[in-house]
Amino acid sequence: MELIKIYDKVFEPYISEETIDRAITDLAAKLHIDYIGKKPIFVGVLNGCFYFAADLLKKIDFDCEISFVKVASYQGTQSSGNIRQLLGLDNNLRGRHVIILEDIVDTGNTIEAVINIINNMGAQTVSVATLLFKPDVYTKKIAIDYVALEIKPDFVVGYGLDYDGLGRNLNQLYVLSEKTSIKKEIEQMNIVLFGPPGAGKGTQALKLKEKYNLIHLSTGDILRNEIQQNSDLGILAKSFMNKGELVPDKVVIGMIENCIKNNKSSNGFIFDGFPRTTAQAQALDNLLQNHDTEIDFMLSLEVDDEELVARIIQRGQDSGREDDKNESIIFNRIMTYNKKTAPLKKYYDKQSKYHRINGIGGIDQVFERLSQVLNA
Ligand code: IMP
Repeated sequence: MELIKIYDKVFEPYISEETIDRAITDLAAKLHIDYIGKKPIFVGVLNGCFYFAADLLKKIDFDCEISFVKVASYQGTQSSGNIRQLLGLDNNLRGRHVIILEDIVDTGNTIEAVINIINNMGAQTVSVATLLFKPDVYTKKIAIDYVALEIKPDFVVGYGLDYDGLGRNLNQLYVLSEKTSIKKEIEQMNIVLFGPPGAGKGTQALKLKEKYNLIHLSTGDILRNEIQQNSDLGILAKSFMNKGELVPDKVVIGMIENCIKNNKSSNGFIFDGFPRTTAQAQALDNLLQNHDTEIDFMLSLEVDDEELVARIIQRGQDSGREDDKNESIIFNRIMTYNKKTAPLKKYYDKQSKYHRINGIGGIDQVFERLSQVLNA
């Protein structure tokens, strides 16, 4: 369920676009029966009715006019309390069939005042069509003629209705939730595992995955898998990877998004080999924010260049990985890392998420260093 937050309040999905659309279609059919040939005038009460008025009018197939008003309140000079007036109406309603369009009828105070004013303008008939009606809190005697949807007396936003000015642009209805935060109930732990080629990211990622029950998202592994299958993505990726260059952001980010979507209830992710540029890090932050989560730690394995080259050549001999065999490709990868990827440390440092880990030592020794950061 996609929760949303407006100011301090959390709202949850309530009535979908499809349900609203069906209810408006039914309402339009009723109006057709009652008003065809009468050339009525719709009077929409702004601001909230704009969505409803537009969608309803699209479904009206008989001659009609439409006008919009705003309801203004002012203190009476005597003891009468709030007096209401309509602003913006430039049509003569005398003798006309008027259908008032409201987004919502709650206590009915507003609609009662609007009906009275329009009756006093000499309309022949006045009826009300509202998108939403809260019968439990309605206090008036006047019947509401056309109701698209009856709802409980809860506060709703979206589809024209607002909470303190915001939320009108949401294309479905949301209801106020008892939840106070939109953060996922299961707290995720998301790690960027960082370091030059050969720093030991893959090995450490597997150990972290096991210990903390995380999804290991290695963009290199996904791409290599695609290459092996000779898929379109694989062929595209191969042309970049075999030169030691980065696969374009759009391709990689799309892959990551799929993986996040497919593992929504996981304990979190280890991003291994991604992000590699500041632009990718920003894209990842945006992506995670859209899924109500974020990066918690950037763990950077630091190993000097000479040790790296030696390790990669050894790996190339063991695994047969194409890009691990050729020394000039290895250098190009390390250079690409130093130029494009290393600046990411600053990016995460600014967010207080960067942790430098000494990557020289035994596998367990390095893993212990990583665990210490996560457990703290
Ligand atoms: P009344 O109580 O029927 O006069 O409704 C007054 C106004 O309160 C409506 O026209 C809306 O602007 C606002 N309102 C009532 N209920 C809601 C709600 O659930 N969401 C947003 N606005 C509401």
